[in-house]
Amino acid sequence: MTIFEALRKDHDIQRDLLAQLVETHGDSDARDSLYQRVRAELKYHANAEERALYIPMMDLDLIQEKARHSVAEHHEIDELIELLDDTDYSASHWLTHAKQLQHLVTHHLDEEEQEVFQLAGRGLQEAQKTTLAKEYQDEMQRQRSG
Ligand SMILES: [Fe+2]
Ligand SMILES: [Fe+2]
Repeated sequence: MTIFEALRKDHDIQRDLLAQLVETHGDSDARDSLYQRVRAELKYHANAEERALYIPMMDLDLIQEKARHSVAEHHEIDELIELLDDTDYSASHWLTHAKQLQHLVTHHLDEEEQEVFQLAGRGLQEAQKTTLAKEYQDEMQRQRSG
């Protein structure tokens, strides 16, 4: 498996969880458990992805601009999570913020898959793509079980 395949797999998990999240209602167990899962997945993924993709890309001096843009979007996602953390599940604007999060994350994942991975794919060596996949998955596993 390459780093890109490993990342795509988790992107699909995020898309699926976010689609379920925006279908939830009020202060319910379903909303709470989905939100906690989304929140954890987004944070773990951003951490592990920065280590296994963006830092190596920057090291290679490869598409620095694009890497910086993506990392800035990770921070925007974080800020939206903080806003949701501070919003009651029962508040009428909770869903508005959750939809904003879905929109922002979807845009971010699409951009990574359609632009970043292609560029990084040209700059990284084949062996490195596999090594980085392992590094990413190990880090995800460490965080998910932590
Ligand atoms: Fe990302
Ligand atoms: Fe990603």
